[in-house]
Amino acid sequence: MRCMVTYDTHHGSARRLAQIIADRLGCLCVDVDTPFQAEDAGAYDNLILVFGFRGPYTAQLTKLFIGNMKGKLNYKNLIVVGEGLFSEKEFPGVAEGIRQMAEPYTFNTFFMKGQLRVDTLTPEEQALLGKFSELTGMQITDMGKFKEEDAQEIAGKIHDLLSTLPVPEDPDAGVTRWICTVCGYVHTGDDPPEKCPLCGQPSTVFKKME
Ligand SMILES: Cc1cc2nc3c(=O)[nH]c(=O)nc-3n(C[C@H](O)[C@H](O)[C@H](O)COP(=O)(O)O)c2cc1C
Repeated sequence: MRCMVTYDTHHGSARRLAQIIADRLGCLCVDVDTPFQAEDAGAYDNLILVFGFRGPYTAQLTKLFIGNMKGKLNYKNLIVVGEGLFSEKEFPGVAEGIRQMAEPYTFNTFFMKGQLRVDTLTPEEQALLGKFSELTGMQITDMGKFKEEDAQEIAGKIHDLLSTLPVPEDPDAGVTRWICTVCGYVHTGDDPPEKCPLCGQPSTVFKKME
């Protein structure tokens, strides 16, 4: 299964969730800001995007990411996982906007209740959350809890789902690819490159892609 998990995190929860999913699938997990190239992303059939809800900015980056990559990606199955405190009901609406961008790929979504680390908030985030506090009546103190078992459950569901989805034909069957485990750069060839042209790491950080 050629999968990649990518995440957008500000306070680390979406990264934790993404890592648990990637561990379950045995695949690479990279920050959405990692400067990998569109051609590299073409090496994946299944793309899993994990993002933390952030009010009006929700999924903005995710949409931008898909928009930029559209037409260059080889992926056929897109899974979006949202993590937030209270937007479980809003999530289907947000997901619908992303679904339109994902066409014609298969598209599935999951939501997980996350946590809020008030001690790490920037003044801008505090101001934004102040409005949410007015709207929802919730106190802006540390809220929610990242439940490891919820993350494991979602990871298991994604694993099961992917095993039922069609496996696209590999246009490069017989070609050996190497992935930089630091930045996600993909190299094609019998051996890994001496050093990664993107992040400069030595050949030892490259892993053979199955
Ligand atoms: C500025 C800001 C806005 C947020 N807005 C929402 C929201 O609209 N809905 C929601 O469910 N959670 C919201 N949250 C909570 C985050 O989604 C939650 O803390 C999540 O775990 C953050 O992921 P991260 O730790 O990967 O950044 C907001 C958090 C911040 C800091």
